[in-house]
Amino acid sequence: MKNMKERYTQFVQLVEDRLHNLVKDKEPKVLYEPFHYLITGGGKRIRPVLSMLACGAVSGKPELALDCGVAIEVMHNFTLAHDDIMDRSPMRRGRETVHVKWNDATAILTGDVMMGWGYRLLPNSTESSNSDKILASYTRALIDVCEGQAFDVEFNENQNTTVDDYFQMIELKTSRLLECSAEMGAYVGGASEEEVKALNLYAKYLGYAFQLQDDLLDIVADEAEFGKTVGLDIQEGKKTYMILYAKEHTLTHFDRELLDKFFAQNGLPKEYVNDMKYLLERTGAIESAEVQINSFFNKAKEELNKLNPSEYRDMLDWLIDSLHSRKK
Ligand code: IPE
Ligand code: IPE
Ligand code: MG
Ligand code: MG
Ligand code: MG
Repeated sequence: MKNMKERYTQFVQLVEDRLHNLVKDKEPKVLYEPFHYLITGGGKRIRPVLSMLACGAVSGKPELALDCGVAIEVMHNFTLAHDDIMDRSPMRRGRETVHVKWNDATAILTGDVMMGWGYRLLPNSTESSNSDKILASYTRALIDVCEGQAFDVEFNENQNTTVDDYFQMIELKTSRLLECSAEMGAYVGGASEEEVKALNLYAKYLGYAFQLQDDLLDIVADEAEFGKTVGLDIQEGKKTYMILYAKEHTLTHFDRELLDKFFAQNGLPKEYVNDMKYLLERTGAIESAEVQINSFFNKAKEELNKLNPSEYRDMLDWLIDSLHSRKK
């Protein structure tokens, strides 16, 4: 166990070094200071490590997937800069968000230029025989994450969002980047089609569980530990799995009134966040989300049985357990 954590930390360190030097001291400062601030501000680095582990799990040298991993981490950070404007989030990774520390225009342009740097990090055809597949996977992730974010925003004002809609939305906004991480690593490692498929599904299910868990943490986490403002999804009117579950399972008149208010006003003022939290507990929505998270993590684990045994496959298995108990 300790060994796994140490190995994970070693991979994270490779990513950190690369990110630290990517745009350090570049000009114009108004563009590259927020870029540097964002990519060196911590974060779990799940996506780049996933690329390296996927590469290792198909018998490639994990370090060869480092640049692809950094490319997807840069794309992820671009989505965060823009997502924080869209969600009006003041805090990320325990620090001020880019649009708060600077302003919206800076955060928008920073996000834009990050995508260019992301593409620049991808291997060309002399560096990888799978460069075309890697490029296609990266582009698909970018398009899909924007589509997912568009649905997320559209649902804020939609009274009729269903649980199915929610799962389609999180597959686009969250699973796709993780799928891309795993696929790119697999391609760098010269995987077979079966291996790519298994790693893709592993990452897809991981993404479902991960977003469900993020939505749950938005309600139950300790804010200092989580590094993001707790209860913001309720204020913003996010149609999470838990809200949609509660809609179908409210028992009391009081609960019905509060939920109706949430749907009618597309969210609730801050002072109602605690009431909503207890409502989600009473209706079993929180427990149901936990069951779903368990189930998707288990499905992800099952995909690993399709891969040859290796220390990297074991680490992918360990990664699930460590994410399962995450507090941030
Ligand atoms: C946050 O992703 C956005 C979601 C998909 C929920 P992470 O939780 O991976 O963010 P960092 O990179 O570790 O801060
Ligand atoms: C994350 O959704 C999806 C993307 C950033 C693409 P959230 O809006 O829930 O992410 P956090 O909670 O702000 O990290
Ligand atoms: Mg969002
Ligand atoms: Mg957000
Ligand atoms: Mg969230």
